[in-house]
Amino acid sequence: MPPAPYCPVPSRVSLNAHLYRSGAPDQLRHLINDIGRAAKYIQFAIRTTEAGLAGTKNQFGEEQIKLDVLSDQIIQQNLWESRLVSCFSSEEMEDVVEIESRNPYAVVFDPLDGSSLVDANFAIGSIFGIYEGNTIIGRRPREQVAALYIIYGPRTLLVYTIGKGVHEFILNEVGEFILLRENLGVADAAKNYSPGNLRAVVDTPPYRNMMNIWLDEKLTLRYSGAMVADIHHIISKGQGVFANVGGSKYPQGKLRLVFECGPFSFLMEQAGGSSSNGKDAIMDIMITATDQRTPIIIGSKTEVDRVCKVLSSK
Ligand code: AHG
Ligand code: MN
Ligand code: MN
Repeated sequence: MPPAPYCPVPSRVSLNAHLYRSGAPDQLRHLINDIGRAAKYIQFAIRTTEAGLAGTKNQFGEEQIKLDVLSDQIIQQNLWESRLVSCFSSEEMEDVVEIESRNPYAVVFDPLDGSSLVDANFAIGSIFGIYEGNTIIGRRPREQVAALYIIYGPRTLLVYTIGKGVHEFILNEVGEFILLRENLGVADAAKNYSPGNLRAVVDTPPYRNMMNIWLDEKLTLRYSGAMVADIHHIISKGQGVFANVGGSKYPQGKLRLVFECGPFSFLMEQAGGSSSNGKDAIMDIMITATDQRTPIIIGSKTEVDRVCKVLSSK
């Protein structure tokens, strides 16, 4: 029998079909689908679990809510069952967990970003970075082979890159991620700004200068308190800048290189934007510990450059 022709392109493109058509290696495609499955359980848990505290703290000494713990467990379960993960590191856990060193991928994740906003019913999300091999320490975010996030808002969206553009999917009524927009792009100039760790203006005068410039130039403020939602705003609207810089409370800013800044930097570069710690590209910073924090300026290229310049002036 001759080989069957390709399946016709359907009017609804699933995440799985999109990954296949983009040339994702089969194992990477399966892993991203498994992460998508975890996300469906998390979005259900968000709707049905009360927003109270778990009575425990994570590796950063932050109070965990029940949903932080539950989301972490759901993701871990799916990573174990995929049989594709060599090791993983979660924002909620101190150590890298080794599964099977011969498996192809190391995964880093923030199970629930913005979890303190659950009771306020703001958008929150899960963030993932995927590396080939069986190590995390000593790698740089540029080595990621995939990065994705899921945002649980009025709609549940999944946005991924495997280094071939940034693509957005919506979770439909029957539990499948369906393509919404392909090749999302971020323009060089920003009209929106998203100033995180703003308490730092008190002891970081250049940050106050930057804030004044944004105010004087009448840029539009968009800041939700969940990085996943603030970054999605930039990627969705196609412009904007997000900053989280150091001050006395958080000398390196509040955000984590491995779980938050690394994955978003890959996605932002793929969308045509950039990200920096003020001096170097986030993509080129070496991971020395899973609890490493870094200042970050990310989004529209020209604005990222300008913010870095203003922040480095006295
Ligand atoms: P998480 O909920 O995973 O701890 O992350 C919250 C982070 C990030 O999403 C957000 O940008 C930042 O905390 C907000 O900090 P401020 O409340 O200081 O603005
Ligand atoms: Mn987070
Ligand atoms: Mn988190």
